[in-house]
Amino acid sequence: MISLLLACASEPTLDRDLWGVPEHFPDPAVPQDNPLTPARVELGRYLFYDFGLSDTGTRSCGICHETAKGFTDGFVRAVGTHNDIHPRNTLSVINAAWRGELGWVPGSNLTLEQQLLIPLLGEHPIEMGMSEALLLERINDNPLYPPLFEQAFGDAEPTLEHAAMAIAGFERSIIGGRSPYDAWLQGTPLPEDAERGRALFFGEETQCSRCHGGLFLDSPTNQWGQVTAKHGAFNTGLYNVDGEGAYPETAPGLIAKTGRARDSGVFRTPSLRNVALTGPWGHDGSVGSLQDMLDSYARGGRLVSSGANPGDGATNPHKSKHIQGFDLSEAQAQDLLAFLDALTDESLLEDARYQSPFCPFDINDTGTPAEADCIPDSRPPELLP
Ligand code: HEC
Ligand code: HEC
Repeated sequence: MISLLLACASEPTLDRDLWGVPEHFPDPAVPQDNPLTPARVELGRYLFYDFGLSDTGTRSCGICHETAKGFTDGFVRAVGTHNDIHPRNTLSVINAAWRGELGWVPGSNLTLEQQLLIPLLGEHPIEMGMSEALLLERINDNPLYPPLFEQAFGDAEPTLEHAAMAIAGFERSIIGGRSPYDAWLQGTPLPEDAERGRALFFGEETQCSRCHGGLFLDSPTNQWGQVTAKHGAFNTGLYNVDGEGAYPETAPGLIAKTGRARDSGVFRTPSLRNVALTGPWGHDGSVGSLQDMLDSYARGGRLVSSGANPGDGATNPHKSKHIQGFDLSEAQAQDLLAFLDALTDESLLEDARYQSPFCPFDINDTGTPAEADCIPDSRPPELLP
């Protein structure tokens, strides 16, 4: 009891009503030095959608993490500001406040404040192509920002640290907990097909919930349905390019960090919330439909028969013991798909709190009179289309 009180005391209190934290969600992990204030979240929203935060003016966080696509981009693999192809598929930022692990490859151990420096400043691949100096130059040139920084941090002078804190705050405010499945968790029945799909998903036959368990469907569970760890990472038998369990060289999995053969093809289990919106699927976007994903699991691994990386994932020696294959009738597949659909929180897509505050990408201050009222972002004139 005492340790519980101490644990609570070390967390800043968060106004659950203000941020719309659903009743059945626990408190999110908000770092003590970056409380979620309306002014920080608002500044973060501007920065998240600002095309001026990429060297060529063609990328923002929000263009790769688009609201309508469940905060992903619809690409097989993300494409950076210089057309570098990212080795992996874009992950959603919805409910990131509850994520203990960020990224496809487990063990990165990053906070949201640290993670966003990768797309912003990273060079392998180049995603937004910024440097700290260019970032500050762009922000300083936009009269919009000093008052926003002043309100958020009591200091009108923009810094990279404050920008990162604000963006992370905005990300923490993106909460999705109003899907039909959430209603079910609170006592409202699911449509019949989704209910049958739910039973399959949590059943012994498919084993889905052994890896996709817990509130966010991203935690491993034991045979009694109890969550055993906050996050898991597995080889799900998507590839077997050398017959010995290798995944393609562009995205080999956790083995790239550890060098251990058994970490080949091991990626973090993503949350399945809003999964119907976040395609294409898989760490490299190589799964074109949810039906294909189900077929791969039912087969006990994917058969890649053509293209650059042929091989039978079902015989991958490093795949998880929970990927054994099962019989799946056409009707059962439809039910499972109905359940996956029931994980979508439609209210997120139209929520004004998550929309871009700026003019559309190709209008800005050169817009037609009706559109000229909108707020220009930080792109310098020479980068406007
Ligand atoms: C060029 C497209 C692109 C841009 C721009 C981009 N991201 Fe991402 N984002 C990705 C990809 C790809 C991943 C998956 C990275 C990985 O782990 O392999 C990702 C992952 C993430 C994650 C981890 C989500 C999770 O569940 O683990 C967060 C958080 C995130 N991005 C936030 C941001 C923020 C904030 C910005 C702006 C500063 C940003 N991203 C800009 C493509 C992009
Ligand atoms: C052994 C653990 C495990 C089991 C069992 C499992 N999954 Fe997964 N799931 C994962 C991992 C890990 C990934 C990411 C794999 C990758 O891309 O390499 C994933 C990815 C997915 C994706 C794609 C998500 C995205 O955003 O790209 C879907 C959909 C999915 N699983 C649904 C299911 C369903 C339905 C079942 C049951 C038939 C199931 N999973 C069983 C671990 C598992």
